[in-house]
Amino acid sequence: HIASISAAVFRTQERARKLWSMKIYRSALLRFADDGQAVYDSDALLAIAPDAAGVQRVVAAGSWQALADQYLEREGVQVIHLPGKLLAPGFVDLHIHYPQTDVIGAPAPGLLPWLENYTFPHESRFHDSEYADGVADFFMNELLRNGVTTALAFATSHPTSVDAIMTAAQKRSMRMIAGKVLQDRNSPDGVRDDTEQSLIDTETLIQRWHGVDRLGYAITPRFAPTSTEAQLRGAGELAARYGDVWIQSHVAENLDEIAWVKELFPESRSYLAVYDDFGLMRERAVYAHSIWLDETDRQLMHDTRSAAAISPTSNQFLASGYFDYLKADEAGMLYGLASDVGGGMSFSPFRTMQAAYVVGREGHAKQGQSLSPQNLWWQHTAGAARALGLQGVIGNLQPGCEADLVVINPGCTPLLARKTAQARNLDELLFAMIILGDDRLIEQTIVSQAK
Ligand code: GUN
Ligand code: ZN
Repeated sequence: HIASISAAVFRTQERARKLWSMKIYRSALLRFADDGQAVYDSDALLAIAPDAAGVQRVVAAGSWQALADQYLEREGVQVIHLPGKLLAPGFVDLHIHYPQTDVIGAPAPGLLPWLENYTFPHESRFHDSEYADGVADFFMNELLRNGVTTALAFATSHPTSVDAIMTAAQKRSMRMIAGKVLQDRNSPDGVRDDTEQSLIDTETLIQRWHGVDRLGYAITPRFAPTSTEAQLRGAGELAARYGDVWIQSHVAENLDEIAWVKELFPESRSYLAVYDDFGLMRERAVYAHSIWLDETDRQLMHDTRSAAAISPTSNQFLASGYFDYLKADEAGMLYGLASDVGGGMSFSPFRTMQAAYVVGREGHAKQGQSLSPQNLWWQHTAGAARALGLQGVIGNLQPGCEADLVVINPGCTPLLARKTAQARNLDELLFAMIILGDDRLIEQTIVSQAK
């Protein structure tokens, strides 16, 4: 009897604790339906509370009018009223190199000379853990400043570089996925790793970081030309053994690169097929660029549920080519948007969405189309989350999602204030921000935290 009374008291206390820690936001709200359609409420209620494990999650989202009575009558809720602001899912960056934070804007005639002259020499510094920690901290702050709450990130070939980014993300409770780069050939001293040791290090890092707090590990062969067959085979074996870790690499970015892969892997049907031949295509495998694919490749992407990380500012900067959205959709490929810093030109999802729009429009190298603002935004939030196999977890603000979100100030510059005030519908509102926006739009980035 006493036990059941104390259980009841405990339940009441627990309920009170939950109510006390419930936060209700009142603002405009953007989220996405399962089919990718945007759902927008100009006066919305978003309720966030910790679940049983203490993870902050969305518990209700919808129009203020429909939900307010039900939630406001509860005791102890904290109401945060943000008139004139827009709440939206935290952005998901599907491909970025944290060690290339300082490589942004390094000029080179194309990918291969850019790697050789700027990127590899710079990445060689990350054997030094103090240096890596400093860059990782700056990088994480820059992501948050730009409204990015999750990234699938390359570290360098040095295991210390992975510890640095994981530690920096863990400190901020961020959902971050990263991995040690595998590159055991065609790479200079200082970044080249040893085949056997690289695979041992990868497994050690998986065991150290994958699934710890909100962190995930990605097996990370840099790209086919810088790995021996033995290293790719070993990576594929690890991918089979650890089925829920991610895989990330680059594919079909640049024509010189493709010619090189053809020489190095004459047995494979195509550049993409190299990865398939070594067991590196499956769910949770993400291939940056995926520009110069043929129909068979696209079918392979679809059939294996591998995803493309579209990196439009990088493709413009390195003059690599244009991602073909129409053909990707015909094949039913998974994809999402990525900055690809430091080949990419900006950390800002707005700059990336703007470039994606221009890439979609391009109509000489492929058929052009005008991507809708809602679709561009989806590609950098719920679409990118789906590509990671994290739909319903991040990239959205539907009930059940982890509470990673941004508070956007649509009036952050005189021109944006003027343009967004004139918007007659959601597409006009979002497009004004995509075309004119940058980090100034992000007033606050809120990351779900375990209590
Ligand atoms: N291919 C191999 N490595 C890289 C890299 O660091 N950046 C880009 N954009 N492409 C690559
Ligand atoms: Zn890249």
